[in-house]
Amino acid sequence: MNAPDSFIHTALSPAVGQSQPHESARAQVAGAALYVDDIPEVKGTLHAAPILSNVAHGRLLGIDASEALAMPGVRAVLTTSDIPGDPMLATFTHDEPIFARDTVQHVGQVAGLVVADTVMQARHAARRVKLRIDPLPAVLDVREAVAAKSWVLPPVTVKRGDAAAALARAAHRLQGSLEVGGQEHFYLEGQVAYALPLEQNQWWVHASTQHPGEIQHWVAHALGVASNAVTVECRRMGGGFGGKETQAGHVAVWAALAAQRTGRPVKLRLDRDDDFMITGKRHPFAYDWDVGFDATGRITGLKLMLAANCGFSADLSGPVADRAVFHADNAYFLEDVEIVSYRCRTNVQSHTAFRGFGGPQGMIVTEAILGDIARHLGLDALTVRQRNFYGTTERNVTHYGMTVEDNIVAPLVERLAADARYAERRAEIARWNATQPVLRRGIAITPVKFGISFTATFFNQAGALVNVYTDGSVQVNHGGTEMGQGLHTKVCQIVADELGLPFERVRITASHTGKVPNASATAASSGTDLNGRAAQFAAREVRARLAAYVAAQQGCQPEDIVFQGGRVRGPGGTLTWEQVVDDAYHARVQLWSDGFYATPKIHYDKHTLSGRPFYYFAYGAACTEVAIDTLTGESRVLCVDILHDAGRSINPAIDIGQIEGGFIQGMGWLTTEQLVWTGKGHLATHAPSTYKIPATGDLPAHLHVALWPEANREDNVAGSKAVGEPPFMLALSVFEAMRDAVAAARGGGPVRLDAPATAEHVLKALQAPAT
Ligand code: MTE
Ligand code: HPA
Ligand code: MOS
Repeated sequence: MNAPDSFIHTALSPAVGQSQPHESARAQVAGAALYVDDIPEVKGTLHAAPILSNVAHGRLLGIDASEALAMPGVRAVLTTSDIPGDPMLATFTHDEPIFARDTVQHVGQVAGLVVADTVMQARHAARRVKLRIDPLPAVLDVREAVAAKSWVLPPVTVKRGDAAAALARAAHRLQGSLEVGGQEHFYLEGQVAYALPLEQNQWWVHASTQHPGEIQHWVAHALGVASNAVTVECRRMGGGFGGKETQAGHVAVWAALAAQRTGRPVKLRLDRDDDFMITGKRHPFAYDWDVGFDATGRITGLKLMLAANCGFSADLSGPVADRAVFHADNAYFLEDVEIVSYRCRTNVQSHTAFRGFGGPQGMIVTEAILGDIARHLGLDALTVRQRNFYGTTERNVTHYGMTVEDNIVAPLVERLAADARYAERRAEIARWNATQPVLRRGIAITPVKFGISFTATFFNQAGALVNVYTDGSVQVNHGGTEMGQGLHTKVCQIVADELGLPFERVRITASHTGKVPNASATAASSGTDLNGRAAQFAAREVRARLAAYVAAQQGCQPEDIVFQGGRVRGPGGTLTWEQVVDDAYHARVQLWSDGFYATPKIHYDKHTLSGRPFYYFAYGAACTEVAIDTLTGESRVLCVDILHDAGRSINPAIDIGQIEGGFIQGMGWLTTEQLVWTGKGHLATHAPSTYKIPATGDLPAHLHVALWPEANREDNVAGSKAVGEPPFMLALSVFEAMRDAVAAARGGGPVRLDAPATAEHVLKALQAPAT
């Protein structure tokens, strides 16, 4: 959509900084790229389908599979008693059964599997298995869970200063509440795994997963074997978005158990409706807030309650809720502040990672508060936001005690406001609104400051393996996974530059637990930071060995040898890369190496949530203009300008794609994507007919993305910054622009609008009594 900004790179790094097409792009558009369900099936492969609970909470008294077992093609029915290892999943909290045991805890919980010759035979038979359930009272609402103290993990409080005293002496004060919905990942490729028995109780699992290492661990634990008996492989996913960080593990464990039970290869590909019913989503949140501020709109005190609806088990809810607390400040200095975070247990799907990982849910409430402060005081919302920004030398310590050292939010927002003509357009919109009987427009600029690193410090490590073959071709493996975000392309660019080779000489293969062990999930946007660096170190090691070999031949120092453009140059002459590799091989020089990277500087106390959880911050800002129809509540996003900080971009085309995609996905979360559970806990919106992600027709007519032209101030690979998740939160500008348009129709004052801003919610906000 945009011509990528150009960057200056040294002659020694010709691949990094280029808009190299995605390494699979051509194969993907040609239908030649393999996903798990495309892998040619081994003879004898069977297919599994899950048996689902249709009750939100109850005692599971018995399972009657007799009718299913009599159906054509059915080979087996598995329940919890068929698990040779631990019947609980090997999650950190160990609170999730593999198959429902004595209770069911949500509609869609898997109580067992049917295994049959074909997918459809298995699915039909699974519907005929009868669960005998004695219903119990279910907790479905997050506020109900708070009242009942129904937690998956204990509450966490983070405070600085004295919020109560600051509120008591504040010149102005506002209180409010907010409800924000969840989000279905809607990866194009649904959850799928294919498990194959090998000899001597060993297993091979093809899985669509962001975390092959965790699947290896979970499968081994369920089968009662050691990790060295399980290999997990993933060439690519058709999207993950956090929904395949843990949720892919359940499917893989089920497939492996069915393979173990039948002694046959088993594939489990979830039907889309079942995927909606079984797997967790973005956490819905509820908030109460009480804010004090001065006449300029500067916040002087804040009490904030965040309640995360976690569903029936903990899954990743602890770190998700932590990240929401860490991002409640977004880009703003909160001096006297008290934040309470509840991690609520409810009888729905177990909510999980989703792009931003709690960050969006932390930021949205503070953006809403700032918008309301501006409307209460009759000030411009951007001015109020700017007055609350972190400083660069003072007012620069977060509520969790981390000094913000790389703050660029003020100049970045200033430049975006100028480029997008914010002030002029705000005046034009006000004039336009004054002439309109029905439509109202709104505009908002919101910033993003997103912390990069896994909050659990130990996850911030990565390994890689670079193999140079005797023909001079290079194969790279690393612990990360490809889900469409372009990680593999960036890693190949980094390795090509390190070895002075054209990009085409470097090939990446599937992520594989046997090649790089103990890898963290590809998550927290840190895929390139971690794996790119590990691969760079591996390649550097190979280059150092070759340089030492050539230097010995030419009687010079290794530093005198230059690798560039497929050639190796020294004082004694220039050789082709292929010649050097072939000579070195015959001289018995090791042509491959591993590499390892651990992020420096980070540490934090997980009990008090204080320290430096993040290596650096990624910044950005968006200016969004919307229109609403005050009679129907319908809306459109008209015009979007984004200025985003990807550091020195490794691949501008891919980074701009991430920014556009992240923004539009965030726009969907805040506008049309509404999850509706019935009073009995059934997810009523379990297919694209009722769950509306943005379609091409919903794209804003104007969507412009520019990159901030400055390298990462921390020493990160190639000067880049992580870009996978931060742009998602640029969509908060859509929500604030909606609230601006609602305020225009109401004649000013605070606006109570719940997310997503569906037509119903917008109408409700328009009609709510003034506060
Ligand atoms: N982009 C595409 N096309 N598909 C995806 O599934 N996942 C997002 C983001 N961008 C995703 C994506 C999420 S949730 C994360 S954490 C990052 O990519 C992970 O990849 P990275 O760390 O390599 O950026
Ligand atoms: N982000 C994303 N995924 C994670 C994290 C995180 O901080 N921690 C554990 N999984
Ligand atoms: Mo992304 S939510 O960290 O997988």
